[in-house]
Amino acid sequence: MAAAAWTIGAGQLGRYGVGGSSKTDRFEDELAAHSGAAHALAVNSGTSALVCALAALGVGPGDEVLVPAYTWIATAAAPVMLGAVPILVEIDETLTMDPIDLEAKITSKSKAIVPVHMLNMPADMDRIMEIARTHALVVVEDACQAVGVEYKGRKLGAIGNAGAFSFNQHKNLRAGEGGAMLTSDAVVERRAQIFHDAGAFIRDVEVGVDVPTFVGMNLRMPEISSAMLRPQLKRLGRQMRKRAERRQMIVDKLADRPDIELCPHNDPASAVGLAVSFETSEEATHFANARGVNRLLDTDRHIYSNWTSILEQRTFDERRNPWTDRDIDYVDCCPKTLEILSRTCSISVDPDVPMAAMRRFADAMVATQAPDVSPTSIPKAS
Ligand SMILES: Cc1ncc(COP(=O)(O)O)c(C=O)c1O
Repeated sequence: MAAAAWTIGAGQLGRYGVGGSSKTDRFEDELAAHSGAAHALAVNSGTSALVCALAALGVGPGDEVLVPAYTWIATAAAPVMLGAVPILVEIDETLTMDPIDLEAKITSKSKAIVPVHMLNMPADMDRIMEIARTHALVVVEDACQAVGVEYKGRKLGAIGNAGAFSFNQHKNLRAGEGGAMLTSDAVVERRAQIFHDAGAFIRDVEVGVDVPTFVGMNLRMPEISSAMLRPQLKRLGRQMRKRAERRQMIVDKLADRPDIELCPHNDPASAVGLAVSFETSEEATHFANARGVNRLLDTDRHIYSNWTSILEQRTFDERRNPWTDRDIDYVDCCPKTLEILSRTCSISVDPDVPMAAMRRFADAMVATQAPDVSPTSIPKAS
């Protein structure tokens, strides 16, 4: 609050015109240092970060971009904005892109892979980077739901050719709306800067790479947002440790419930996100009555079967429709994803909920008994 108020009082609300010493410049430097990427570009949403990254990496008309069938719709919409088509890939039990289905769906048109780290849980980046190298594809990590999360000692978002963060209301860092693109490639960074700033070619900072300008948009981050994000970034490491503690406390309590299985994790040693699965969707639906629990099939536009615009392949102007002349059918294309999501629940490990309250929620959760489907519980037909 103080940082936002101070910014309003000072009256400098946009990043440019202060000689490269804006709050947004500082936030970018701090975010890059925190993430281990050479560059961070602050933008106005996670969707903007994805579009910027794909545009900067040269994704365009005729290209195919491989995205998981379980993610927020923006991951699939971003390639469409650039004239490319999303190809939907099944998830596996880790709730992230299935490397086997990924490899099966690569074609001569494939250009980029966008693994998504859902619910603070990492995709299998070792396998995905290896597949990308084998097929000469670029990787844009959608780390919108995993800001600050580690995978085998590195921060998510800084492993692929580029990464995207979201700072919307529901994310690990929040500014209402906001996002950032990470990369360690100076040309990609420069192209993203140009794209996000209406094709501007000279601003406050000289970056030392010679990239010709091109037409872009305004996806710039406001100073108030950067001011709000900087103090949050400072405490992000502590928040992650609190998440890990809360997660472990719940995992220990769940040991009393042999009917509940933890979803496998691609790096258990740094796990901060928690999801569990059941044998049947009925059991998962019943468990989702507990506080802080969601059955994943009920999470709206995170499920490809609810992405009406993508399923119906509609764009704002038919002449800009990348599916014309393509024979792609998304309906029923990822049945395994729907099956997994139907019997899986996420469990909130919110670091801002005090541990004592979290323990009470966990006790109530563990006490949620499986639905009784024994013959005596089924009402007799009259
Ligand atoms: C996985 C994922 N990708 C992309 C986005 C888009 O981020 P934003 O809402 O900031 O545009 C979100 C946000 O909900 C997300 O969860």
